[in-house]
Amino acid sequence: MIRLAHFSDVHLTAPKLGWRVRDLFGKRGTGWVNVRLLGRAHRFRYANRVVEAMLADFRTRGYDQLVFSGDATTMAFDSEMTESAHRLGVWDATLPPCLAVPGNHDLYTFGASRKRTFEFAFSAWQQGERADDTHTYPFARKVGPVWLIALNSSKPNVLPWDATGRVGAAQLERLKVLCAKLDPGPRVVVSHYPLLTRGRRPEARWHRLLDWREARDAAAACGVTLWLHGHKHAWYVLEAGDGQPFHWRSCGATTSTRSTGRA
Ligand SMILES: [Fe+2]
Ligand SMILES: [Fe+2]
Repeated sequence: MIRLAHFSDVHLTAPKLGWRVRDLFGKRGTGWVNVRLLGRAHRFRYANRVVEAMLADFRTRGYDQLVFSGDATTMAFDSEMTESAHRLGVWDATLPPCLAVPGNHDLYTFGASRKRTFEFAFSAWQQGERADDTHTYPFARKVGPVWLIALNSSKPNVLPWDATGRVGAAQLERLKVLCAKLDPGPRVVVSHYPLLTRGRRPEARWHRLLDWREARDAAAACGVTLWLHGHKHAWYVLEAGDGQPFHWRSCGATTSTRSTGRA
């Protein structure tokens, strides 16, 4: 048996974000409205204190491994990423090892994605076996007999209302290569996006993993038995069945004052 602690969607921010003029006319401009005027900041007002309590728990409860399924930040500013990595203890040797994937809020703009802001700040949580030397995702880490497989299902989007994700055919091909290299053992995917809602239906058009069918089939072919994810700010567990080949667990938003079902 292994003991995992799964957390997600902490949505931390920084006191000084570092706005530039062009940010006002892009995704971050409308994101600011959502944060400041539509209640997101209020829902996450205790986030820093919750993280402090969570880390104290991680240090004392004897976990073998931590798992973070993304949305470390709110709008992927450099300042937020640095602050979030610091507050989450990415380089803190007193914490158990952690495996992390980015959420859509960590790849909020094409600039943040291109600069690999998340991957640099969270590199200590992205160590593992890879399909090749040039691509970060997917990667796998063995914990006891279990292979944890980190899959990046997030991407930047242009439209203000677009919160869709995609794993992509190239990454799924690398998943196949990676899985062929792994020795036997249970396989668990860590992804930001879910495959389906708790009602086992595809998510709303602008909130879903666009290639969820392809991702599901590739994970099943890899022998995956469990899919851990965030993105849905609600906690639930679904068992395999009704055409779904494995179990999955939504972590919810660890630092939110309520579960809204929105990302
Ligand atoms: Fe998300
Ligand atoms: Fe989120």
